[in-house]
Amino acid sequence: RKDVGILAMDIYFPPTCVLQDELENHDGVSKGKYTIGLGQDSMAFCTEVEDVISMSLTVVKSLLENYKIDPKCIGRLEVGSETVIDKSKSIKTWLMQIFEECGNTDIEGVDSSNACYGGTAALFNCVNWVESNSWDGRYGLVVCTDSAVYAEGPARPTGGAAAIAMLIGPNAPVSFESKYRGSHMAHVYDFYKPDLASEYPVVDGKLSQTCYLMALDSCYNVFCKKYEKLEGKQFSIHDADYFVFHSPYNKLVQKSFARLYYNDFLRKCSTVEDGSREKLEPYSGLSSEESYQSRELEKASQQVAKHLYDSKVQPTTLIPKQVGNMYTASLYAALASVMHNKNETLAGQRIVMFSYGSGLTSTMFSFKINEGQHPFILSNIAGILDVSKKLESRHVVAPEKFVAALKLMEHRYGAKDFTTSQDTSLLAPGTYYLTHVDSMYRRFYAVK
Ligand code: ACO
Repeated sequence: RKDVGILAMDIYFPPTCVLQDELENHDGVSKGKYTIGLGQDSMAFCTEVEDVISMSLTVVKSLLENYKIDPKCIGRLEVGSETVIDKSKSIKTWLMQIFEECGNTDIEGVDSSNACYGGTAALFNCVNWVESNSWDGRYGLVVCTDSAVYAEGPARPTGGAAAIAMLIGPNAPVSFESKYRGSHMAHVYDFYKPDLASEYPVVDGKLSQTCYLMALDSCYNVFCKKYEKLEGKQFSIHDADYFVFHSPYNKLVQKSFARLYYNDFLRKCSTVEDGSREKLEPYSGLSSEESYQSRELEKASQQVAKHLYDSKVQPTTLIPKQVGNMYTASLYAALASVMHNKNETLAGQRIVMFSYGSGLTSTMFSFKINEGQHPFILSNIAGILDVSKKLESRHVVAPEKFVAALKLMEHRYGAKDFTTSQDTSLLAPGTYYLTHVDSMYRRFYAVK
């Protein structure tokens, strides 16, 4: 089996969003805190008629229709999500409705969860299946679906919502370089959801930022070592055309890429230019602890990495900046952004991915991009993703309405016996929506 990876992709995000600069005014924080400080433009959110189940149904149906895939051809379905609606029944089982209708109930896989990493775990499971002896020749399907909502306070502007579906198989345009993979897993309390009565996480924001960067360093070091062992030469950021990061908010992505540059400097990569080396030299003696705290290092490394950030990272940031943190879908929405922006020139290039889930689990891995075979070719995928149109057709709502929607959802979370407004006026045709939850907590959905 050659070039196992992502054959096709589709994305769905809610048609409602709030602008970050309006949210700054509403929250009474200093001007620029969310837009420049966090680097975010707008944030999507689910109203009471949508949730992670409806979004995943919408995106799966859309992918199957857009690429004309017979539901009988799916042999494995894996879901990544950290939005808990049921502690036992997987989101995957709701998606089975689409396949049962066509007489296909022979589909392996369940949900994977660990914060924003579940989508990557689901993706690895599918790829491993296709590469294994148990593969039966059919496609794998991976779904990442999340609604990121935070309690009032500094984390609230880092929410978002989306679902992504990815078809997995051989001869893929986005194929895994499975040998280069570096993981870092550990036990920390940086972001977690211990309160089962609330959808909101408990979050130690500062700790989560440091954990993210420490995990990045660790994964990059393992990744580089494996590459060097197999290729017999040093890896530096110049060996990849794009770096795609899990994006809770854009500022952390900027810091992350600068951190990789600093790592290349510490590893004495010949690709680090003399001028940049001089600027980073004062920080060469910092302990790693000190290096995470140093504002000066952060500034200097961002400055020397800026031109490379513009070419290797900026094209990946569109959807995460416009939609917000989509938890498990965030990393793959960033991948979709580069497919949207650069599909004409991607063939033959390498994309390095960094997946991070609090708690914590993280992996750096890489893709080799190929032209692909119809209908799984880069230009067709970009056309089906239809990112510009989806972003432009959204409805901007006032922060007050966003806050009211979250208040209502607080009451609805874990509740039974209610009917939604069934107001589908903003939803596009083909979108699934929640109609009611009965006295047995059973959820019912309809399609617009
Ligand atoms: N203009 C420009 N920049 C500003 C302004 C302003 N008016 N005001 C503040 N800033 C900058 C700050 O300097 C800071 O930038 P820096 O990091 O480069 O110093 C940035 O805006 C954020 O300001 P802080 O005061 O650090 O923000 P605060 O601590 O209030 O909240 C945080 C930020 C911690 C990210 C919070 O939103 C949060 O907890 N989010 C959820 C956790 C998260 O996403 N963690 C990431 C990894 S884990 C995961 O993926 C869930």
